[in-house]
Amino acid sequence: MSPALPRAADGPSVCQRPFVQNRILQGNCLEIMPRLRGGSVDMVLTDPPYVCGYRDRLGRTVANDDNTDWLKPAYAEMYRLLKPGSLCITFYGWTQTDAFFAAWRAAGFRIVGHLVFCKEYASSERLLRCMHESAYVLAKGNAPWVAPPLSDVRPWTYTGNRLHPTQKPVESLKPLIDTYCSPGGLVLDPFAGSGSSLVAAREVGRRYLGIELDPAHATTAKQRLR
Ligand SMILES: C[S@@+](CC[C@H](N)C(=O)[O-])C[C@H]1O[C@@H](n2cnc3c(N)ncnc32)[C@H](O)[C@@H]1O
Repeated sequence: MSPALPRAADGPSVCQRPFVQNRILQGNCLEIMPRLRGGSVDMVLTDPPYVCGYRDRLGRTVANDDNTDWLKPAYAEMYRLLKPGSLCITFYGWTQTDAFFAAWRAAGFRIVGHLVFCKEYASSERLLRCMHESAYVLAKGNAPWVAPPLSDVRPWTYTGNRLHPTQKPVESLKPLIDTYCSPGGLVLDPFAGSGSSLVAAREVGRRYLGIELDPAHATTAKQRLR
């Protein structure tokens, strides 16, 4: 079910209305993003399913973590919604790097940076002790340089995953938004989970828009942002 966005029957089509902002929309981002006006978002900061069959110790899983069908349409929409010259910073699952790259390139993104977040703990121990998260920096066209740029090796703190099975630390996200989104700009996260990226956006004075499929996680995000 899509959320209560304005419909064409209410008057002008959604795409002609001011961009919806400072909200969490519960629903499928593949259905919601096409209803939003293109070229209106200043930054995408997102943490999509890693497509790795994730299951934590409590048995919690992540929706759409079992298929890649959403990858190309989702990144195509993120690209359309971004303003020219702006960035999408996206976490990704390294076991599916080829599928993520194919989706980013098909959407039109330029791949302009890679971030490594260093954990002080191992999230799993098999062949290796897994002690980092990673994200790519994607540009729509030519993104302006910033001074000083951020280091691409970043600190990370453990959240305890109390609010979401793959909850990201707000403090690790804030510098990304502060550096790469203009003051007062709009940050979109179409895979919002418990809303960590949107809390970060609000804490550094940016507007935000989150989309989350799972009703329970959408409620958590709304509560955090209340
Ligand atoms: C890796 S989690 C994000 C966790 C988030 N960064 C946090 O700190 O809580 C990815 C989220 O995407 C959501 N999701 C999966 N498919 C979706 C879709 N088609 N539309 C919207 N959300 C979706 C999942 O329910 C999940 O909460």
